[in-house]
Amino acid sequence: MMVTNTNNLDSESSHNFTYDRTAEVKAFDDTKLGVKGLLDSGVTNIPRMFHHEKLNMHEISKEDSKLCVPIIDLQDIETNSSLRAQVVDKIRSACQKWGFFQVINHGVGVEVLNEMICGIRRFHEQDAEVRKTFYSRDNNKKVRYFSNVNPFRGKGANWRDTISFFLTPDPPNPEEIPIVCRDIVIEYSKKVRTLGDTIFELFSEALGLNPSYLKELESSNGQFLLGHYYPACPEPELTLGTSKHTDSDFMTVLLEDHMGGLQVLHENQWVDVHPVHGSLIVNIGDFLQLITNGRFVSVYHRVLARNTGPRISIASFFINTSTRGTSKVVGPIKELLSEENPPIYRDTTIREVMAHYFDEKGLDENIPLQPFRL
Ligand code: OGA
Ligand code: NI
Repeated sequence: MMVTNTNNLDSESSHNFTYDRTAEVKAFDDTKLGVKGLLDSGVTNIPRMFHHEKLNMHEISKEDSKLCVPIIDLQDIETNSSLRAQVVDKIRSACQKWGFFQVINHGVGVEVLNEMICGIRRFHEQDAEVRKTFYSRDNNKKVRYFSNVNPFRGKGANWRDTISFFLTPDPPNPEEIPIVCRDIVIEYSKKVRTLGDTIFELFSEALGLNPSYLKELESSNGQFLLGHYYPACPEPELTLGTSKHTDSDFMTVLLEDHMGGLQVLHENQWVDVHPVHGSLIVNIGDFLQLITNGRFVSVYHRVLARNTGPRISIASFFINTSTRGTSKVVGPIKELLSEENPPIYRDTTIREVMAHYFDEKGLDENIPLQPFRL
């Protein structure tokens, strides 16, 4: 009898029919201060909008795996052609098996990396009244601050805040970039652009194409940057810093601090990416998987929430400038197709690929590129 009563009470309290998620999200969004603002207000329980239903301890606490994302050294590849050939082989293998690798000696100075992390941290930790002024849900803004891409969607929100920058081909006026990170955002993004060009060359070589092939496709002429801030989380087992997703771009270059928490899905296991000081992480996006006819893979990744923090990361996305809704046709590169390698994707448009990526199922349930498979 007692047991039955207790169960009834439990199920009543956990099925709170008066819970209004939209109102909770709206109140949160209206603060314009993100997850950091919640933490600063002293919360010790995370609001329900951040709870992830399907999350269970089993999925979160995978055995510490011996597997490691490949680390590739780019030292001297411009001058030493046999070294370059070895690097091209390693990149090919990493792009086929992992969709992720870390690069060292990549040409972006460690002081630039450190200052970029500090600059993004300064933005998120500056005076709340100033930070608030950048908060916006207007996608057309070249610079804006927000928490979660779409928290109103009926899924668990992420324990993360972000500042975004649309940088090329049509950069914002420097005055639009917050003063606390202005100079370094401009400097860092230029250096990452140069590195991106090098990596696109190596990718082209790894695919057996002319080194300038991918660049000439204009696949990489746009650059979009996200400066993430993951505050410490009082109940990390209930939520995620970033939900499972693939990137919808061609390629992403990620800079992270020393905190860790990024995981890559590899052979059905969540593998930790261990931060390596001075390195950058490179991953393949959906569009590159599509145009390489699946040779290079765009893989799921996520970021765990932690009770220590903050963690700072900066993702630079190489996108087609017309990513925001055009009818430009994209499909497998013809040079990569043959009788033995028939197309596995049909030609489609950038608009269609993006529409699938952002459809209402959400990034964590969408199978990348599925509607375009032949
Ligand atoms: C992303 C992403 C990972 C990170 O922005 O797409 O996967 O470590 N970020 O913040
Ligand atoms: Ni990502």
